[in-house]
Amino acid sequence: MRIVMVSGSRNREGRTARSLQAIGKGAAKAGADLEYIFLLELNLERCRQCDPDGSGICMREHRCIIKDDFDMVAAKLAAADAVVFASPVYFLDLSESVRAFMERLRRVKGPPKPLPGGVPRAARPGATPAVGLCLAGSGGDGAATCCQILEKIMLECGFDVVDMIPVRRQNLKFKLPLMELTGEWLASKPSSGPSTHP
Ligand SMILES: Cc1cc2nc3c(=O)[nH]c(=O)nc-3n(C[C@H](O)[C@H](O)[C@H](O)COP(=O)(O)O)c2cc1C
Repeated sequence: MRIVMVSGSRNREGRTARSLQAIGKGAAKAGADLEYIFLLELNLERCRQCDPDGSGICMREHRCIIKDDFDMVAAKLAAADAVVFASPVYFLDLSESVRAFMERLRRVKGPPKPLPGGVPRAARPGATPAVGLCLAGSGGDGAATCCQILEKIMLECGFDVVDMIPVRRQNLKFKLPLMELTGEWLASKPSSGPSTHP
């Protein structure tokens, strides 16, 4: 069981990192191997929207034309048994590095299979379980909003989103044990299972 943890923070010892480390601690306790990826330390461009209509080879051939570290990270995610995406909250939203990476990933993954009513739902059998966490480190505003944004884009990337964790500076200490338990649970490779609503 291998869990890949992706951070969109610039700080290896910041609050986002502390949250990820808590998840990692629980996962390691349950026997998982861990890999941490810090997006800002990699060479990652943003999407070029290659074609005149804004599409690109990504939409047709499920690959990106840009030669940077994207393929390497995408391959690690594809090979993982479970993944975690963590973003610091900036302007009540994702950090720029998380957004730029996920926007490219959803293109190469192709459109998610919609549920009736147009709800994007990616929990296809065999989809990789994923947890998202958003850390608001100032007033705390935006942790939940950011989680909504991150969940949507994780679903669009085809992950089985099994949990989203909003964290704010004010409750970080109290949520660390919860994140440790979440890591332990994630190492059991949980699944959302089939949708039960019509
Ligand atoms: C550009 C920018 C925007 C931010 N916007 C918010 C915000 O909307 N809400 C909040 O609580 N904190 C906000 N913060 C504070 C960060 O969430 C905080 O510094 C957080 O701890 C960063 O994560 P890190 O510790 O992993 O670096 C913002 C910080 C920056 C630099």
